[in-house]
Amino acid sequence: MVANKNQSLHRNKRYALILAAGQSIRFKSLKPKVLHPLCGKSLICHVLDKLKGLNIERTFVVIGPDGDEVKSALGGYPVNFVSQSEQLGTGHAVMAAAPQLRDLRGSLLVLYADTPLIRTQTLRRLLKTREKHKADQVLLTTDYENPSGYGRIIRNEKGEAMDIVEEKDASAEQKAIREVNAGLNCFRIPSLLEALSQLSPANAAQEYYLTDILRILRNGGKKVVTISTDLPNEARGVNNREELSLVEINLRAQIARRWMLEGVTILNPSSVYIDESVELSPDAIIYPGVLLEGKTKVGAGCVIHSFCHLKDTVLDQEVMVDQCSVIRNSSIGKNTRVGPFAHLRDNTVIGPEARIGSFVEVKKSRIGKRTTAAHLSYLGDAEIGSQVNVGAGTITCNYDGIRKHKTVIEDQVFIGSDSQLVAPVTLHQGSYVAAGSSITEDVPEYALGIARARQINKEGWTRRRAGEQKKKEKRKKKEQQES
Ligand code: UD1
Ligand code: CA
Repeated sequence: MVANKNQSLHRNKRYALILAAGQSIRFKSLKPKVLHPLCGKSLICHVLDKLKGLNIERTFVVIGPDGDEVKSALGGYPVNFVSQSEQLGTGHAVMAAAPQLRDLRGSLLVLYADTPLIRTQTLRRLLKTREKHKADQVLLTTDYENPSGYGRIIRNEKGEAMDIVEEKDASAEQKAIREVNAGLNCFRIPSLLEALSQLSPANAAQEYYLTDILRILRNGGKKVVTISTDLPNEARGVNNREELSLVEINLRAQIARRWMLEGVTILNPSSVYIDESVELSPDAIIYPGVLLEGKTKVGAGCVIHSFCHLKDTVLDQEVMVDQCSVIRNSSIGKNTRVGPFAHLRDNTVIGPEARIGSFVEVKKSRIGKRTTAAHLSYLGDAEIGSQVNVGAGTITCNYDGIRKHKTVIEDQVFIGSDSQLVAPVTLHQGSYVAAGSSITEDVPEYALGIARARQINKEGWTRRRAGEQKKKEKRKKKEQQES
């Protein structure tokens, strides 16, 4: 009884195999196709992430000659890598994994790394169908209006799937079949291994096709079940850049829809790019043409105007980001207003109720509550307190050609327009910098720092100059007449 129970536990174990070793010739890229990003995440990571919650014991990834890059990109994933040294087809890729599968029982999901839109619920259906029917193979199919490029499903008069014919090998009649191989399979491991040994490359591509397994199993009297997805885009493969863009349009629409249903207003969702990893909050408003990437988080009631690009940036609540602002790796406090045309980067932290205006660049700086830098400034490596007024055109001269230096501006400092602060330098609390100063030394608390040449007014100067000019012209005329 106990032995029986153990056996059945064994039989219901779940494994996954992802094929990612293909040469991706159609993609025309130096980088492995499966590492190309889709809404901020590589194609293969989309597939791997869909396995979460399915109780998969072990996941194998088949990699090819460019596998080192894939390996390092998957550093955080607990997967076993299998090398396929020559790319002789999808069946051959599974053959490369056979030695690692030999002692396993149970189900093996075999997925292609280039079908990123697959859903966890569909993978669960594949696994459950195999377990329920004790099937040797469960295959997902779907119907396409234009099935070109996909393997066609050949059914007998009873409607049973008997074979998959690849585009290259299909007759005109077979090409007209609209039901295609979605590329998602679940096998009983021993049945798959047995069938693998019978694969041959006798086809137009001279490859070992994984798709031939179905026919081999059928011929051996094994049980093959097909299920279909009514969400056809789920099975879209990415073989070239155009297909990448089609899949991206689809996923982007899904992401925007999810946030709109969560209470985010998105004006013209098809123009907005939101990575899968981004988090938005209710009552945020996203204008057309906005790009939100990486670990960006947008708080409740924030407004992000058109053509802003935010990456790895956290906005507290009710932050307003005006047109054409670029913010990377930074965080912005509640009720602060940024832009238009602002550029914030490299761990910049802006406090609440602050104002960072047009053509202001802030790099690796902290800016306190209610501080304003409203126009045309560069603030780099600066520590700026609260209620500071950074006048128009203020520049921190943080780089001496060799090293970067810090500028410290304490609370309630007032910096007059067009001042340069040559770092390292500190403006102490409540101090005041006269407009147009080049500050090279610290300004003490509540002091006025003036660092510019004293003004001299030369009385009557413009009139005198005009008189001299007239005299000059008269002289010239006279000389010309005499010559
Ligand atoms: C494959 C199917 C086709 C199906 C379509 C669904 C085969 C023979 N054809 O065609 O029936 O409709 O997917 O998207 O399986 N790979 C390897 N090693 C290889 C070759 C490929 O690991 O030697 C990997 C690729 O990296 C890719 C996946 O297998 O992730 C699929 O290969 P691909 O060449 O894209 O197959 P398709 O022509 O799209
Ligand atoms: Ca493909």
